[in-house]
Amino acid sequence: MTDVEIRLRVNGVQRHAIVPARRTLADFLRVDCGLTGTHLGCEHGVCGACTILLDGDAVRACLVFAVQADGAEVTTVEGIAAADGELSPVQAALRKHHGLQCGFCTPGFVVTATAFLRENPNPTDDQIRDAISGNLCRCTGYQGIVKAIRAAAEAHGVMKDLV
Ligand code: FES
Ligand code: FES
Repeated sequence: MTDVEIRLRVNGVQRHAIVPARRTLADFLRVDCGLTGTHLGCEHGVCGACTILLDGDAVRACLVFAVQADGAEVTTVEGIAAADGELSPVQAALRKHHGLQCGFCTPGFVVTATAFLRENPNPTDDQIRDAISGNLCRCTGYQGIVKAIRAAAEAHGVMKDLV
């Protein structure tokens, strides 16, 4: 199998690696970088648990090869909180409004909601539901997640940044 040299920034840290051409970005992040907050559920683009930011866009890391991220800026859920560990508005709202139970889906929701609120900082509930329609949660029934994203949007008015 062909190995390929890649250079990218992950959560602000420059990374240089030689990876098999078929290694997914999800596996690169989890195995090579040790960033296991990016969860793998379905591994074929359905559940959204593996969502990360690739040059600011929310993408499914199980559907992207690591070599496709060469030269890119990647943010995983580990890079969403502040450097001192303070939760982002989305993370804090999910905790406050019971937007998680087992937490398996949560990294994907955090990243998806963060990207969404950057694009649409004042969404309606329908827009929130549409935005998270590609992320599956088997525990919460989604009500707490929608409530949390709405609360994060409202908090964003007084908190300067989502990440
Ligand atoms: S693990 Fe990537 S979408 Fe499910
Ligand atoms: S909190 Fe368990 S799958 Fe969402």
